[in-house]
Amino acid sequence: MNRIMKWVAIFLFCLTAGQTAELFSADAKEVYAARRQAFVEKMGANSVAIIKAAPEVNRNGDVDYFYRQNSDFYYLTGLDEPEAVLILSKRGVFLRGSFQRANELLLMRERNPHREMWDGYMIGVERAPDMLGIEAARSIDELETYMTSVVRGADTLYLKVENVGFDQPLNAELDFIKKARQRLNDFAVVDPAGILVPMRQKKDAHELELLKKAIEITGKGHLDVMRTAKPGMYEYQLEATLEHAFQYNGAEREGFPSIVGSGPNSCILHYNTNRRQTEKGDMVVLDIGAEYGMYTADITRTIPISGKFTKEQKAIYSIVLEAQDAGIAAAVVGASFRAPNMAAYAKIQEGLQKLGILKEDAGRGAVRDFLPHGVSHYLGLDVHDVGTYGNLQVNDVITVEPGIYISESVAKKYDLPKAYWNIGVRIEDDVLITDNGPELLSFHAPRKPEEIEKVMAGK
Ligand code: GLY
Ligand code: MN
Ligand code: MN
Repeated sequence: MNRIMKWVAIFLFCLTAGQTAELFSADAKEVYAARRQAFVEKMGANSVAIIKAAPEVNRNGDVDYFYRQNSDFYYLTGLDEPEAVLILSKRGVFLRGSFQRANELLLMRERNPHREMWDGYMIGVERAPDMLGIEAARSIDELETYMTSVVRGADTLYLKVENVGFDQPLNAELDFIKKARQRLNDFAVVDPAGILVPMRQKKDAHELELLKKAIEITGKGHLDVMRTAKPGMYEYQLEATLEHAFQYNGAEREGFPSIVGSGPNSCILHYNTNRRQTEKGDMVVLDIGAEYGMYTADITRTIPISGKFTKEQKAIYSIVLEAQDAGIAAAVVGASFRAPNMAAYAKIQEGLQKLGILKEDAGRGAVRDFLPHGVSHYLGLDVHDVGTYGNLQVNDVITVEPGIYISESVAKKYDLPKAYWNIGVRIEDDVLITDNGPELLSFHAPRKPEEIEKVMAGK
């Protein structure tokens, strides 16, 4: 294809596919193809993998929840459509109506002009090989036939079977497995996570580009809030400012519900009601992440709504900042995944002891009263992304997010003066593990108290 043709094709693709911006990049389909190939290489010789797209979920009446693709499926296909199943096989899937076999087969919706008029454009079976770089595509209507034909003679089926409770009917996967074992042959059922988790943990260049963009946009949201927050504003108004920055800068949506907790709510870890009116002197925890090209950031900043930290707020904030610095410094190749957690905890304990909040002989249990959560998780397509939680490796992306939360009940338990009540602080950043040490990806919004005060003062 010559250059002009290539750009015309990309333009038409943008018009018709209705997909996220990242697929517009001309080489994205090769990235997904390489991932599928890497997956197939790790499969057993006589095995088959079945990976399903996320279903559409009804919200109420005629309205569905905003569609979000299953992360595993997206990682392997780049396809943002429901009603699709990816089949991967080392020995090849026999394609009905031809004499060919394919290592990868995508079952998907066929184009339907009437449906497209209502719901938007679909890629369709005919265009999928070219647009997605998939080896073969067939209609989702053939799902049952292909599922049966691919497990025939296979010794292993890679398939995620969701947990089903004792009181629930068998889900479709279990039903299929049971019947196929009775009718055809026995086969082991293995969770594809064993292959996919290490792959998704190590971010490739394509993913890092998208993650960095999500992180940059999220930093802009934090800066916008720092520049405009005033006592008396409602938490939802701060949220609106953040999410305006997300959408305005090209993010598709939030990667998780925005946490905007002021005053007492700053001590509720996953608070996202966001309805309270802020008051002078409040601390506000803003834990947010824009989702861009399906990758999410996860960045927390804590600001004093009045623009200046009180002495006590600054003391607590500074301990958390020191703990975070220690956690980030510990995020090096080969260290245990828990190393940042341990380094941060030690600093929190030391800091609270120095401040006289914790006694010298206070144990881990007492520290956990102030910091009851872990300090790191992987980050990627999912905010709590998949990973092995072994030793840190090059191109892992993790968060480092210590905090101190002095709720009223904690303050009473430790008999703290009122000036410490309802101070919740979390500082969360996104870190890339490299051979040259930890790389702070989320550097766009300041972390140091003096810098936050400066931005809030409009300087
Ligand atoms: N936003 C949830 C978390 O920080 O893990
Ligand atoms: Mn987090
Ligand atoms: Mn977070």
